[in-house]
Amino acid sequence: MVIVTVSTAFQPVLERIAEEVERTPGRGRSADYIPALAAYDPRRFGMAVAEPDGTVHGVGDWREPFSAQSVTKVYTLALDLAREGDALWEHVGREPSGTPFNSLVQLEYEDGIPRNPFINAGALVVTDRLHTRSGDAAGELLAFLRAESGNPGLDFDLEVAASQGAHGDRNAALAHFIASYGNIDNPVPVLLDQYFRQCSVAASCADLALATGFLARHGIRADGTRLLSRSQAKQVNAVMLTCGTYDAAGDFASRVGLPGKSGVGGGIVAVAPDRCTVCVWGPGLDKRGNSVAGVAALDRFAALTGLSVF
Ligand code: DON
Repeated sequence: MVIVTVSTAFQPVLERIAEEVERTPGRGRSADYIPALAAYDPRRFGMAVAEPDGTVHGVGDWREPFSAQSVTKVYTLALDLAREGDALWEHVGREPSGTPFNSLVQLEYEDGIPRNPFINAGALVVTDRLHTRSGDAAGELLAFLRAESGNPGLDFDLEVAASQGAHGDRNAALAHFIASYGNIDNPVPVLLDQYFRQCSVAASCADLALATGFLARHGIRADGTRLLSRSQAKQVNAVMLTCGTYDAAGDFASRVGLPGKSGVGGGIVAVAPDRCTVCVWGPGLDKRGNSVAGVAALDRFAALTGLSVF
């Protein structure tokens, strides 16, 4: 019988991965449909691992804030699920879309119910519902991220938010179309302002690895209080595994074998339940909007540590 050894000596693993990534040519392209993100050098790289007790290990640019973008969809989903429970799933599905993150095509023949909370359409619905319940979805997200990361300086990047607003026709189209089916409660301009600020959060790998810790602790926040039930934390992890990297989710699950969520700022967070959370940043993206270096680094992380949910 083959016994797989699970190594928890994270720091040497991170250093080895950073060296390998450094030697790899070709890193994809920074997101240019949001002009404020186009300036990122695709060769930047950082990676952090947070253990469930809050111990953090890191390499490269792991303390450098970058634009969290769609990684924030994990936290707004958790915050809304905590408030409204399973009723949320009547308004957004839990199935992979197999389409790009900003696609409109399924909405018409599925009556304005987005496939999942991680494509832009689904995230707009989640943010709308959280905004109705909290009175300030982006503010609730920011407070959560500051508390979980222990970083009171974590903030929105209003230049990025404005850049998204100025180039936001696709998200505006999604929001108006969903609203036409009655699946959005707030006025669309209010929702878009909330959504663009949410996406603009600037946070480091260390911040986001720590902020994702509640998913490795089955719903328990950094201060020991419960955000999600164990079953709800399972739901979020499962939707990350199946939908977190869009039309590349099958490939990501096969290569990495951990729930993961990407953003066009080049960040990806991943969860090894009970063991750790990881955040990696490399701004060069593949054509599906996932960080090239980030996916490669998580692939190596899973291989070198033996950590996988399978
Ligand atoms: O709404 C958008 O298009 C961006 N603010 C976020 C998209 C994103 O990060 C998709 N992730 N890979």
